[in-house]
Amino acid sequence: MQLLMNSTPNAIALFASGRRNGNTGQLMGRIAAELQIEVVDLTEKSISPFDYEHKNRNDDFEPLIDHVLGFDQIIFASPVYWYAAAGPMKIFIDRFSDLLDLPDLLEQGRRLRGKTAHIVCTSIYDEVSAPFLEAFKDTFSYLGMEFGACMHANCKDGYLPSKYENDIRNFIKDIRA
Ligand SMILES: Cc1cc2nc3c(=O)[nH]c(=O)nc-3n(C[C@H](O)[C@H](O)[C@H](O)COP(=O)(O)O)c2cc1C
Repeated sequence: MQLLMNSTPNAIALFASGRRNGNTGQLMGRIAAELQIEVVDLTEKSISPFDYEHKNRNDDFEPLIDHVLGFDQIIFASPVYWYAAAGPMKIFIDRFSDLLDLPDLLEQGRRLRGKTAHIVCTSIYDEVSAPFLEAFKDTFSYLGMEFGACMHANCKDGYLPSKYENDIRNFIKDIRA
């Protein structure tokens, strides 16, 4: 039982922020270190905005989604920027439309169904912005993914690790459940 509690979950994190080691990066880093999971920094990937003509098929999106589909749980980590996700996260999510539009990617899109999606986010309020949260939840639901848990930290005074240890422990418990 102890072994199971501390085992590495079949999970991956997708991270986007204007800075790698800012508030969200530190929070995600803490969680990833505990779970021993990979964090993909979307800002380091070459992923172009959605294109109706799909002239961007040779960028990093398709190899990345192939990789991500190998995991049962996907953590989306982003600060709240103007009530929404950070730009590279939004671009990545927009590209899910490729999976619905392109016949040879439909099977990939179907493989998202049943996966569990979690959110790790920071902002400057106690409560996470409703539009930010709802956009993620509605997207997960549309894609047939289960919404798991949300770990949000108020970083008005920066990321204060000790303030969030309890919430982090609960979040990690949800991922390992
Ligand atoms: C461009 C920008 C827009 C922001 N918009 C919001 C917002 O709409 N709501 C909010 O609570 N905080 C907002 N913030 C504050 C950030 O969410 C907060 O400082 C967060 O912890 C930053 O994380 P980071 O260090 O990973 O960038 C914004 C910050 C920036 C830089």
